[in-house]
Amino acid sequence: MNLRFEPAPALTGTVTPPADKSISHRAALLGAMSSEPVRISNYLRAADTISTLEAVRALGALVEEHGSDLVIRGTGLRNAREPGEPIDVGNAGTLLRLLPGWLASQEGRSFTLDGDDSIRRRPVDRVAEPLRLMGAELEATQGRFAPLTIHGRHLRSVSYEIDVASAQIKSCVLLAGLAADGATTVGEPSRSRDHTERMLLRAGVPVRRHGRHVTAVNADELQLDSVAVPADPSSAAFLIAAGVLVPGSRLLLSDVGVNWTRTGFIRIIRRMRGIVLGDLEGELEDLTADEPVSDLDVAHGALEGTTVEAEEVPLAIDELPLVALLGCFAEGETVVRGAQELRVKESDRIAGVVEGLSGLGAEIEATEDGFVVTGTGGLRGGTVESRGDHRMAMMGAIAGLASQEGVEVVGMDAAAVSYPGFAEDLRAVGAVGGRG
Ligand code: S3P
Repeated sequence: MNLRFEPAPALTGTVTPPADKSISHRAALLGAMSSEPVRISNYLRAADTISTLEAVRALGALVEEHGSDLVIRGTGLRNAREPGEPIDVGNAGTLLRLLPGWLASQEGRSFTLDGDDSIRRRPVDRVAEPLRLMGAELEATQGRFAPLTIHGRHLRSVSYEIDVASAQIKSCVLLAGLAADGATTVGEPSRSRDHTERMLLRAGVPVRRHGRHVTAVNADELQLDSVAVPADPSSAAFLIAAGVLVPGSRLLLSDVGVNWTRTGFIRIIRRMRGIVLGDLEGELEDLTADEPVSDLDVAHGALEGTTVEAEEVPLAIDELPLVALLGCFAEGETVVRGAQELRVKESDRIAGVVEGLSGLGAEIEATEDGFVVTGTGGLRGGTVESRGDHRMAMMGAIAGLASQEGVEVVGMDAAAVSYPGFAEDLRAVGAVGGRG
């Protein structure tokens, strides 16, 4: 589906962005790993997180759905059922990376994970390696890709250093550690989102953070009880960018998750002198079980270029395409470094951002691990290819609203994996276009 987004008049109004995708995946998985029922409120009803519900059903969990409120009756930590056929993860990279952590400890049972064409291009060796060290057996296509088969074994704990900051790898190892002998420690080069650690704490697992390392001990069972999912800061980011870029705009976004490991983008905008008010969680040394929320008040204003260095990248990883977009409108240069992980997302987001924004009139160059944008005060408009990637599609739409001539997004349906109501929410605050 192609949709055209026209230059917008001032955007105004209040939106509650969709539920957090990362937290929804984790709530469904930990619900399935629990023995007692787990209530989840405001679960994300989007393609990726529906894949997770289907996956946990295939593994023997019962999922009762009352709109976006769910009750999951899990199988317990060590009793996942072996399904008769491959589990379809669809387009969900987080499911593909987290689920093997649980399945690796299901002794004597085997599981195959597969998904769409894009998921078959995303590396899984990064989770297969630590799980093998823990004693599981895994077979990946060409050693690296889905379909991925996991043969569950009795696991031993490990101390594992990840060479990229990745919440998916960290979470996978921690989930495997729950059923391994002893205490499992994961180290990463810099901090990444910590939803898994917070939810495990909430489920009664003693999890400790010490600098760049997290340790979890094995558990007999999880005691999760309930999870309330906040609005997703990564989905909110598109509305924030729209509010900051479209002249005269003022948007209020309600109940957005402001866990500090997810709000790097807001800090980057503030550094660019953009106006995003709200009560953000400050950097925490220790772990907490809470997922704080805040309303965010966004207003249009002039921007200055900035530099994003490697340490900040994991805290804004999914929003970096939007940093490039903001950079087009900012005074001076905007540089992102240390973000080579962008090349293995739903699409190569360095290539996609550079090609997409250049086509709209931007002065932007790719580097090996990021990009350099020279602000020109605006964008002409044109066509953006989503490349089947939800975040590229939504970035194209926001570029259209802020452009001089509008943007046609080719493959807008990609947005459905995380934000099915995206075009409707934009129209509700005054955007023009976005109709099929
Ligand atoms: C996610 C972690 C990030 C992020 C992805 C969701 C998660 O991936 O890009 O959209 O929920 O753990 P990496 O851990 O590979 O950086």
